[in-house]
Amino acid sequence: MKKKRLRFTVNGEHHELYIHPKKLLVEILRDEMGLTGTKRGCNTGSCGACTVLLDGMAVKSCSVLAMQAEGAEITTVEGLADGSRLTPLQRSFLDHGAFQCGFCTSGMLMSATAFLEENPTPEDIKEGIQGNICRCTGYNSILRAIKAVAEGKYKEEGR
Ligand code: FES
Ligand code: FES
Repeated sequence: MKKKRLRFTVNGEHHELYIHPKKLLVEILRDEMGLTGTKRGCNTGSCGACTVLLDGMAVKSCSVLAMQAEGAEITTVEGLADGSRLTPLQRSFLDHGAFQCGFCTSGMLMSATAFLEENPTPEDIKEGIQGNICRCTGYNSILRAIKAVAEGKYKEEGR
């Protein structure tokens, strides 16, 4: 099949690629752009490890054709920190030990980054990560980390 042009912005940088139109967004990000922070787990839209932001909305990149991102702004976990300056959520994850093997972490961060924009209540937080599976932590440390940010305990550094 003929390759098609895809133009989109990833982590603030404009890209123009020629890709197979049936490629998934996760495949383009990881295999063609080297953004391997986005994980590929179940590949069926169930685990959330592949979550990225598409125009600010959390999406499972294994369930989105890359061509659907034409003209969109994508943010992956690599785009959260500004150099060594982590986001409040990333610092809270570190402080709360909200990961063990880390495989789910980038997806958790992306989902939580999206729904923290909506000023969630503690109940909303559980709902907000219900599409993200963690096999290690038992979720409590993750929930505590997100809640601390929702409660305003972490501020943007130097902003
Ligand atoms: S790899 Fe996409 S949801 Fe599991
Ligand atoms: S930290 Fe291992 S799957 Fe979540």
